[in-house]
Amino acid sequence: MNLPNLKEARKRTKQEVEHVYLKESYDKIKQGSKYYLKTYGCQMNVHDSEEIAQRLESLGYEKTDTLEHADVVILNTCAVRENAHDKVFGFLGRCKHLKKEKPNLIVGLCGCMAQEESVVNEIKTKHPYIDIVFGTHNIHELQNLIINYNNKQEIDVYSIEGKVYENIAYKRDSKIKAWVNIMYGCDKFCTYCIVPYTRGKQRSRKSTDILNEIKSLVELGYQEVTLLGQNVNAYGKDLDQEISFATLLEKVAQSNIPRIRFVTSHPWDFTDEMIDTIAKYDNIMPYIHLPLQSGSTRILKLMGRRYSQEDYLKLFNKIKSSIKNVAITTDIIVGFPNETDEDFQKTLEVVNTCQFDGAFTFIYSPRIGTPAALIKDNISLEEKEKRLQKLNKVVNEYSLKNNQKYLNQTLKVLLEAPSPKNPQKLFGYTENMKLVNVTADSSLIGKIVNVKITDAKSFSLDGEVV
Ligand code: SAH
Ligand code: SF4
Ligand code: F3S
Repeated sequence: MNLPNLKEARKRTKQEVEHVYLKESYDKIKQGSKYYLKTYGCQMNVHDSEEIAQRLESLGYEKTDTLEHADVVILNTCAVRENAHDKVFGFLGRCKHLKKEKPNLIVGLCGCMAQEESVVNEIKTKHPYIDIVFGTHNIHELQNLIINYNNKQEIDVYSIEGKVYENIAYKRDSKIKAWVNIMYGCDKFCTYCIVPYTRGKQRSRKSTDILNEIKSLVELGYQEVTLLGQNVNAYGKDLDQEISFATLLEKVAQSNIPRIRFVTSHPWDFTDEMIDTIAKYDNIMPYIHLPLQSGSTRILKLMGRRYSQEDYLKLFNKIKSSIKNVAITTDIIVGFPNETDEDFQKTLEVVNTCQFDGAFTFIYSPRIGTPAALIKDNISLEEKEKRLQKLNKVVNEYSLKNNQKYLNQTLKVLLEAPSPKNPQKLFGYTENMKLVNVTADSSLIGKIVNVKITDAKSFSLDGEVV
């Protein structure tokens, strides 16, 4: 098999990329021009889209939620599983069609798929209607790409090794909760995962830059920050003056932000110091997303996860016994190559022991260029689907059981907005990240209120303000 060398692609530099920038003014962007921005994938992409939106608005574009009204369409893509690819190209079909009616429409693709060599080649050869492509390292080029667009497909996917951009402006989706990047990329190279290739090597932001950003969010009245990274507890390991995630967390806790969250934690990097810090500060929320991936030590080894079933359970128990009222959610993959029924039973065993508050479950999807893609994918789709269904059934039972614990209890909820399903109610999250639909007056939006829980379902709670 001829695999594109993703590791090499990661090293490509700006000099190797063709650039034809024409010096033109912003004038060609007519007043009232609109952008349509669609985001796939994880929180990292959601936050990147807040930067993209800001950059588009700095050029004078206004946001639209109707594709047909757009002058620029940007798709911020995810590459983590194959179905993400199909969804994006499905949507691009609509853009291609629209371009026939609106020849001046600019169609852009960015995010993790733009970092895949096979996708870029596919775009170059088969999708001439995609006008601009920029990678996860090139968001800052967006204005240039649009201003200088000259009816010629432009592809900008270079990376400057180790570069961290600061003073980025965001058009944040919320005035209550904010994402704050603490690091970019990932150095873990789990064998199934494409992220280290699409996002590059781990680059931590300096703690002073992070703390300054949080200080300004506090001044703007934000109630909650979520520290973002693919592996937040490896924070600082790449800095000259190494600082641990626990130390950073403590410094953030000493700012006056009412609620602090963080995603994602890797079990291998989870230290006792972290557990102590989370337990010590009331404004660090008792909620941890701790991906398990598999309950079988044999499969974990093939996945390159660096922990065994026993290690995971030990850590899980330590967290549960040290942090009051902590909720723990997880990610699980079924059908990794060579996963036997016995291996799958071990995953169920861990789920039954841990009784997670929630779990994101996935069927393994081979990603070209990752080591696992070279192992024969020897489990039928039918078998994978069977395992997924079985797993989901158990997972959902525990979600419900955990939620039912809160019936008649009074919990602190940060109210965010009218509930999309029932605009008569507001929604918000408890400290340990339970979604609650609350009967409350809209004047309470942005406030942390006491809510008595009146009903519990698998994925949400109902309650009223007391
Ligand atoms: N950095 C995070 C998550 C990254 S991707 C972490 O380490 O946990 C989010 C989730 O997607 C992963 O936790 C994993 O469960 C799933 N995932 C990643 N690659 C996958 C693949 N090739 N097939 C199926 N699921 C995958
Ligand atoms: Fe992927 Fe593993 Fe890094 Fe998570 S820690 S992003 S699963 S390589
Ligand atoms: Fe997807 Fe990229 Fe996030 S591959 S999961 S959008 S880092």
